[in-house]
Amino acid sequence: MRTDIAIIGAGPAGLLLSHLLAAEGIESIVVESRAREYVAARIRAGILEDSSVRLLRSVGLGGGIDARGFEHRGIYLQWPWERHHIDFVSLAGRSVWVYGQTQLQADLVAAGEAAGRQVIYEASGTALHDLDSDHPSVTFTDAAGLPQRIEAAAVAGCDGKFGPSRAAMPDEGRETWERDYPYSWLGILADVAPSTDELIYAWHPDGFALHSMRSATVSRLYLQVPSGTDIADWPDDRIWDALATRLGHGQDGWQLTPGPIAEKSVLPFRSFVQSPMRHGRLFLAGDSAHTVPPTGAKGLNLAIADVALLAPALARLVRDKDSALADAYSATALRRVWRSEYFSWWMTSMLHISGDPFDAQLQLAQLRWVTASTAGAAGLAENYAGLPIGF
Ligand code: FAD
Ligand code: PHB
Repeated sequence: MRTDIAIIGAGPAGLLLSHLLAAEGIESIVVESRAREYVAARIRAGILEDSSVRLLRSVGLGGGIDARGFEHRGIYLQWPWERHHIDFVSLAGRSVWVYGQTQLQADLVAAGEAAGRQVIYEASGTALHDLDSDHPSVTFTDAAGLPQRIEAAAVAGCDGKFGPSRAAMPDEGRETWERDYPYSWLGILADVAPSTDELIYAWHPDGFALHSMRSATVSRLYLQVPSGTDIADWPDDRIWDALATRLGHGQDGWQLTPGPIAEKSVLPFRSFVQSPMRHGRLFLAGDSAHTVPPTGAKGLNLAIADVALLAPALARLVRDKDSALADAYSATALRRVWRSEYFSWWMTSMLHISGDPFDAQLQLAQLRWVTASTAGAAGLAENYAGLPIGF
C-alpha cells in the first residue's frame, strides 16, 4: 500500500491526526493492533480543555460535545471541613468540558468512516523501516495473517506508551526523563447521578479522592491507593465507604450517593518524556512521546495539542516539500509538554498523601493559598483550563 502518511495507533492522537490531515488534502492510513470494539470500549480520560474543544469544533468534530458534553466553569478543591470553588471563567476567561475519551473516540471513528478513511485494525508485528530516508515504510501482519507494507512520505507514531515507535528511534541523541510515584488510582464508573455539579478534588489524610462524571446518570470516581494494589481487596462497599469519608459525606449537609459499579480498575502513575519527538521521517505524538499522571487531566489534551501542531507540519512537508514546520515540531510541542508535565506533577504532589507528616502540612498550606489568593487560584485555572495551542 502507498499513502502520504502512515499513522501507527488509532487512539485519539492517530485518528485526529488522520482527520486533520484529510482537511489539508493529505491522505493517510492508520494501523491499529487492537480490535475496533476494544478501542471503542476503553474508559480513559474525561476532561477537554478550552483549546481542545475549539480545535475539535473548528474541524467539524464539535457536534457530540455540544449535544452530550457538559461545560464546567471550574472545579472544587477541598480538604476536611473546607470546600472551595475555583472559577476558571472569571480567573482565566476559559472553561473546560466533561466529555469522555470514549465519546470522542466514537466521534472520530464515525467521522473517519463517513469520509472513507482507512483504519486497519488487529495488525500484529508492526515495524518501522527506513526512517532516515524520504520513503519510510511500516510493515505488519493483518487480521487474515497476511504480511503487509505501507510506503509513505512520513510515519506518525501515535501508538501510546507501549507502542513500537518510541523504541524505533536510535539511542544516540535520544533523551528520556521519568518519575514514578508510590501510588495509583483506583477508578470506578458507576451508574448513578453525580453528587456534584462540578469535579471535586479532595485532599484527605486517608488519601486523595476525585469525584468526576460522564453524564447526568453516570459518575466516575477515583481513590488514591498504594502502587501494586489488588482490585480484589476493594469490594464495592469498601470503595463507597472510602469515597464517602474522603469526599466529606455529611460535611455541611453534602451527600455522596452510591450506586451500582459498572467498571473498576487500578491506574498506575508515571511522568515520562522522550526527546526529541522526531527522528528523520518519524514523528511521535501523544502518549508515545510523553505520559503524565492523570491529576491535571492533561493526557488526552496533550495528544490533541501535539497533532494540532503535527498536521500542518506534515502537510507542508508532503505538499509543499517545505520542512520548516516539521523541523520545528519537536521543540514547539515539547514546550507545552513540559508545561503540562509540571502542572500534572504539581497537582499530584499537592493532593496525594505521601505518608510524611511534613509533606501534609506543606500541602495544606499550598491548598489554603491556592484557594484564598486570586494569584494562586488564577495559576491553577490558567493551567487546568489549558494554555493556547503552540504555547
Ligand atoms: P492511546 O490512546 O494509548 O492510543 C494509542 C493506540 O496505539 C492504541 O489504540 C493502541 O492499541 C495502539 N497501538 C499500540 N501498539 C501498537 C502497535 N504495535 N501497532 C499498532 N497500534 C498500536 N488521561 C487523563 O487525562 N485522565 C484520565 O483519567 C486518564 N485515564 C487513563 C486510563 C488509562 C487506563 C490509560 C492507559 C490512560 C489514561 N489517561 C488519562 C491518559 C489518556 O487516556 C491518554 O493520554 C490518551 O489516550 C493519549 O492518546 P494517544 O492517542 O496518544 O494514545
Ligand atoms: C475523569 O473524568 O476520568 C478525570 C477527570 C479529571 C482528572 C482525571 C480523570 O483529573
